[in-house]
Amino acid sequence: MALDKRGLELTAASDDAAAALDAALDDFLAFGREAGPLLKAAFEADAEMPMAHALRGYFFLLMGVGALRPRAAKSGETAAGLAATARERAHADALARWAAGDTAGAVRRFEDILLDHPRDILAIRLAHYLHFYHGALAQHRDSTARVLPAWDETVPGFGYVLGMRAFGLEEMGDYARAEEFGRRAVEIDPSDAWSVHSVAHVMEMQGRPDEGIAWVRENEAHWEHKVHNFRHHLWWHQALFHLALDEADAVLALYDGRFRADTGSDDVLDIANAASMLLRLHFRGVDAGGRWEELAGHSAGRIADGIFPFFDAHYMATLAMAGDSDGVRDHLEAMSGRDGEATADAVYEDVGLPLCEAIAAFGAGEPGRCFELLEPIRYELYRLGGSHAQRDVFMQLLIAAAKQAGRDREHRALVAERGAQKPGAVAAWMH
Ligand SMILES: [Fe+2]
Repeated sequence: MALDKRGLELTAASDDAAAALDAALDDFLAFGREAGPLLKAAFEADAEMPMAHALRGYFFLLMGVGALRPRAAKSGETAAGLAATARERAHADALARWAAGDTAGAVRRFEDILLDHPRDILAIRLAHYLHFYHGALAQHRDSTARVLPAWDETVPGFGYVLGMRAFGLEEMGDYARAEEFGRRAVEIDPSDAWSVHSVAHVMEMQGRPDEGIAWVRENEAHWEHKVHNFRHHLWWHQALFHLALDEADAVLALYDGRFRADTGSDDVLDIANAASMLLRLHFRGVDAGGRWEELAGHSAGRIADGIFPFFDAHYMATLAMAGDSDGVRDHLEAMSGRDGEATADAVYEDVGLPLCEAIAAFGAGEPGRCFELLEPIRYELYRLGGSHAQRDVFMQLLIAAAKQAGRDREHRALVAERGAQKPGAVAAWMH
């Protein structure tokens, strides 16, 4: 039995093996690019560490690729078959549930682990991730509050917990405290991309675009070369700030040079960033050139994944806006007829499918139908998960559809509503 760097008992052949696993986990928490090779090194040190197998399984799931689910399940089975502590067995169980689509069961497992082990930072991060994609905003906020008493500056990884706390507070509208926690985390480590991101969200929600651009750029040198493709999402946020300032050229420069510079990527967040920004530009009358087609080519391979409908809505946007009617049809078909076993199934049925049909209708030049599909579910969109800033694109879609369909009463009402929420963002919708 060994101890990890936060003092949790870890089944490992040696202290060196435990340290190798700590290094892989550290890189994961930092959104670094070396987590895979570091995990491999941990396996070389000890091929029978249950938490190494669990971590490998979680890595597969976090990629959001349907074809990797069986490999994640296999990692869970292997972890469950090894000598392990109760905490490690609980991880194996959480992994098995998640791989089977029972993400609600997995997150309950993580929260249960945290009652006994509030310093299990992997459980903290994975609960944070799943609450986020469940749209479980209060749980997302409170999950980190429950563990924080067990943390202080002397515990490695403290800043990551502060950054998660910040994001949970931000999504619940507690902006002042969110910014305080986020800035404190970035002071501890300016390359902590998730914490930089939490503060960027505060600035987005409070309509502080100039500060937001400066904030992203101020820390860029620390994370640009260290962070994996999550850095693209930070540049996406920078582009959002430019969009708020009506600087479409700057948005496109960031699109081509930064967050969609890697046109070979079919990573879900990369596609979501790009699709969401192209839609926002479209609503402002900016031509996308061939960018929709480039994205749609990648989305076509992802439409059967069926992970979270939030992802599918972005795949659908690329297919619909590229005019790929076969792809749209196949995607809608792939999302229909789910068996109801997975946590996401009800969300697909109630929200994901009508939203994707609405997006398809908009792309097909049927704004009236888009409006009729989207308006009844507008207050349910939070169930998709993702952030307020990300889901805002669907509200913009509703307004654009109302306008194009000639639904003047509804358009006027929606613009008034938006103006009350975002005083600086109305001008773009008045013409
Ligand atoms: Fe974000």
